Amino acid sequence: MITVWKDINQLATLEGAIKKDGRNLIPEDLGIIDNGALVFDDDKVLWQGSTTDLPAQYHAAAISKRGYVVTPQLVDSHTHLVFAGDRADEYSMRLNGADYQAIATAGGGILSTMRATIKASDSELFDLACERIERINNYGVGTIEIKSGYALTIKDELRLTRVIEKLKTHFKGRVRLINTFMAAHAVPSDYKSSNEYMTQVVMPVLKELSKEKIVDIVDIFHEQGYFDDKDVELLFNQAKTFGLGLKIHADEFNDNGGATLAAKHGALSADHLLCTGEAGIMALAKSSTVATLLPGTGYFLGKKQANARALLDAGAKVAIASDFNPGSCHIDNVLLLASLSAANYRLNLAELWCAITLNAAHALGIKNHNRFSIFKANKLSDITYSWGTRV
Ligand code: NIG
Ligand code: FE
Repeated sequence: MITVWKDINQLATLEGAIKKDGRNLIPEDLGIIDNGALVFDDDKVLWQGSTTDLPAQYHAAAISKRGYVVTPQLVDSHTHLVFAGDRADEYSMRLNGADYQAIATAGGGILSTMRATIKASDSELFDLACERIERINNYGVGTIEIKSGYALTIKDELRLTRVIEKLKTHFKGRVRLINTFMAAHAVPSDYKSSNEYMTQVVMPVLKELSKEKIVDIVDIFHEQGYFDDKDVELLFNQAKTFGLGLKIHADEFNDNGGATLAAKHGALSADHLLCTGEAGIMALAKSSTVATLLPGTGYFLGKKQANARALLDAGAKVAIASDFNPGSCHIDNVLLLASLSAANYRLNLAELWCAITLNAAHALGIKNHNRFSIFKANKLSDITYSWGTRV
């Protein structure tokens, strides 16, 4: 079906950014067209330009979007939104001086959400997730990645991925959901090592799910006290045989070489990167692996942010995502996070906007991101200027 929009106050085509594969962007790469018109079908943009030049054949079908800004669709490429319970007490404990990893070692952290999630029924988990997806979609975000990983048993990790599949069907045609398998999120205390948990839980569950063809991407928390290089190799080599995309939670608390490992495997993205040093930055810049920054986690944990400018200047493809989860980032508004971190990251407007649209889509393996978000605003800069407000 062909859609024709005209009289768009500002149409951000991101034409320059598309040509440059999302790297080394200057403000002009936003490709802003005032009083724009856009013609697209399910596959591609058929025509874009000024409304005054709209070819006659499209006039009859044209719908006026006066008073609106249209841009490539907003994408949140990193969330953990299927979980039960909350960790408000932990947040208070941290404000009062406790440390994230110390809380986790004492049985809190991911394992505490695991206990609440396992207790919840499928329909409770589905309903909680539905509410969260609706709210995120309300910010103008039309594609959302969702990770499993708060169950950590064979039976319950199968359940979580199937709940995500149900959500995908439920939101079909309205919100595009990407199903990421992340049973390698933490090691429950009944396993001697991360490798034992990998071979007894993660790998058998992935094999079982591969028969159902419902997983899009795999992810793993590569960090001291969580999962190591060997675990990543095991997971990725298997995932490659199933044709799945790869992601790593990389260098969140220490520079563990996670970014380099992601680039070596041709992963779709390496996420967090708070502690990534020179070698990891260069490895990402030379690869097509997207460097996904999660500023909310830095704020929520009170940590030093990732070195965004070094990544951008080296030529990496940078995305920004929310990391919405109950423990390390209870913030779900990627547009707010991108707007408020841009000044500290020192991003120009094209870098900011590309980070939550095109590059975020690339981080999910979506190359043809032929979807759009529409905002009631006079110009694009009003949107990022109005922190946390859906203009
Ligand atoms: O992306 N780093 C690992 N996983 C989440 C934290 C999850 C939690 O604390 O519940 C993250 O920050
Ligand atoms: Fe995460």
